[in-house]
Amino acid sequence: MELKGKVAFITGAAQGIGKAIAQILAEDGADVVVADLVLEKAQETAKEISERGSRALPLKIDVARYPEVREAVDSVMTQWGRLDILVNNAGITRDALLLRMKEEDWDLVLDVNLKGTFHCTKAVLPLMTKQRGGKIVNIASIVGVIGNAGQANYAASKAGVIGFTKTVAREYASRGINVNAVAPGFIETPMTHRLSPEVRENLFKQIPLGRLGTAQDVAHVVGFLVSEKAAYLTGQVIHVNGGMLMV
Ligand code: NAI
Repeated sequence: MELKGKVAFITGAAQGIGKAIAQILAEDGADVVVADLVLEKAQETAKEISERGSRALPLKIDVARYPEVREAVDSVMTQWGRLDILVNNAGITRDALLLRMKEEDWDLVLDVNLKGTFHCTKAVLPLMTKQRGGKIVNIASIVGVIGNAGQANYAASKAGVIGFTKTVAREYASRGINVNAVAPGFIETPMTHRLSPEVRENLFKQIPLGRLGTAQDVAHVVGFLVSEKAAYLTGQVIHVNGGMLMV
């Protein structure tokens, strides 16, 4: 129960990797804010977590819209009075080869994945500064490092998240705020269930551990990064990819 008394705000927490992060941080003792675009699903996830004895607050949020982010963070402060951990996990894909990629799909992916991370971080930093500490974890992707055909918008957004992470880590290290990124490889979630059997088969060949990752594989690393065990880590990108990329 290392996170007892801490409040964690997790975006895109209704399902997939975000849900696993919310569950694991709750198991470690944190009170968790399940913030998601889809309120009903966020409510279900928060209910599951509450039934296991932790405090969970579902909130509707579109990370691409700063006023909604502001309102959600204010609501956490009103209800729980503090905010110690932010996990910027909300993310989407809109894949197409570059010449077929529509400008609206470029904008949407950048708005959610990169600008959303900027919005949430901006909203919590003054609170963390006042509290003299905090932990921020941004969920990037292996694709932001090695690229992937058909994902120019997504790769650019995730590479942006990595540069953003390193910059905020430098700006806020002296305030006791650790900022790191986790770059998952291919993880079994609704996002990857759309991959065809051929693509999956091809992927397995490229992953030394021979399987896709689980949401828990990623969530455990986030759990470590937000704990005091990771006090001396900041500005890092932790790769969770079954050995698919070794840096
Ligand atoms: P998912 O699609 O299963 O879940 C994403 C969640 O984010 C959903 O609950 C969705 O409602 C929410 N969301 C979408 N747009 C939002 C917005 N504008 N504001 C607030 N919430 C929003 O995705 P998954 O697989 O769990 O991915 C989570 C993160 O991990 C994303 O950032 C993704 O890019 C990243 N990632 C996923 C990988 C994978 O293989 N599944 C690999 C590498 C990175």
